[in-house]
Amino acid sequence: MTPTAAPEALDRAALEAHWMPFTANRQFKAKPRILAKASGMHYWTPEGRQILDGVAGLWCVNAGHGRREIVEAVATQLETMDFAPPFQMGHPPAFQLANAVVKIAPAGLDHVFFTNSGSESVESALKIALAYHRVRGDAARTKLIGRERAYHGVNFGGISVGGISPNRKMWSASLIPGVDHLPHTHNLAANAFSRGEPANGVNLADELERIVALHDASTIAAVIVEPIAGSTGVLIPPVGYLKRLREICDRHGILLIFDEVITGFGRLGTPFAADYFGVVPDMMTVAKGLTNAAVPMGAVFVRHGIYDTVVNATPSGIELFHGYTYSGHPLAAAAGLATLELYQTEGLFERAASLAPQWEQALHSLRGLPHVIDIRNLGLVGGIEMEPRAGAPGTRAFEVFVDCFNRGALIRVTGDIIALSPPLIIDERQIDELIDTIGSAIKAVS
Ligand SMILES: Cc1ncc(COP(=O)(O)O)c(C=O)c1O
Repeated sequence: MTPTAAPEALDRAALEAHWMPFTANRQFKAKPRILAKASGMHYWTPEGRQILDGVAGLWCVNAGHGRREIVEAVATQLETMDFAPPFQMGHPPAFQLANAVVKIAPAGLDHVFFTNSGSESVESALKIALAYHRVRGDAARTKLIGRERAYHGVNFGGISVGGISPNRKMWSASLIPGVDHLPHTHNLAANAFSRGEPANGVNLADELERIVALHDASTIAAVIVEPIAGSTGVLIPPVGYLKRLREICDRHGILLIFDEVITGFGRLGTPFAADYFGVVPDMMTVAKGLTNAAVPMGAVFVRHGIYDTVVNATPSGIELFHGYTYSGHPLAAAAGLATLELYQTEGLFERAASLAPQWEQALHSLRGLPHVIDIRNLGLVGGIEMEPRAGAPGTRAFEVFVDCFNRGALIRVTGDIIALSPPLIIDERQIDELIDTIGSAIKAVS
């Protein structure tokens, strides 16, 4: 079967073998939504229906789909060298990408460890934090602090510091020990319909002081937060919140990790959210936009002091017993290099910044539609929160999602929140088209 197989080829039986991730398998397979082709701002269904991409695939195709420069770079690399072992051996594209990507990282984050996904980046960052304290002789610092409503991928470390109960409850007995959580910052009563960063809630960062007082700073290795929580419904940090977390971490020798898997690579109109908020973490996890999602890849940016400490602590031999067969994979590195080049030559981060005011205006024009209880935005990120149906949470927004797809737009929903993150190449007309489509779907839902 080719990717553009006719829809009739994708009958119920043809869909059975694939156990789809984070999907209602039975519901989907009874009424599938299939994408077969993509270019620029659009997908096409197998029958040729055009779908405007309102979510950059899944927060990742920041430069738009099917970019020729990336296709050619990956094809050339595939012909030159398909794979090289990353352990005790190296290859040029991985070093080139490392050098290129640290150039756009916040000052001081000048080393990078490659992974294959956001989840692996999170695990790697947590392990590096523990290794760092241990080799410094501060081995009691083992506790990790996450946050309620956080998403840090699906591996054991990530779900442990994460704060989404359905992701945790099945494995609750096996979560890693020594984890505590900050409260989330979502506050509809105080902040509904804020434009940009909400005014109320900086004091929630002080909860870290309470956690430090409870466990003692000498036991805490790191705090990990998403600058903007995406997967739990676009939670924008209150004004001053991230700065205050940084101050508290500094006061107590705790490492601060920003999970920038969705905010990295221009989403807020700056290279990283760290730049937008003017707060430099000690480590930063990324994936998605690093390669424009053309080839899976993630990375952890690390402050030089952390790299130096870990690498110099071992007299000789391997310093960190961690890595993946596909760390720095040549095809991913080639895709990453071509992607960074596109971001730069097309000024896509600046483009996102310049579109942000129109994006905000268009999104907030939906205020007043039935069931809409909040609208949030920052950079080219948008969230529309709908009132849940009594006894059937999530169903209202899911119906909007399906209706949007039928009307020709791809959005994402999480619970009753619509999350939007279009490719940074979107134009003014397409912003209006996307928001109009969503508005019509919201009006149509009961
Ligand atoms: C903040 C954050 N961290 C980690 C991940 C996990 O990334 P992946 O699905 O590539 O493992 C995601 C995915 O959306 C994310 O939003």
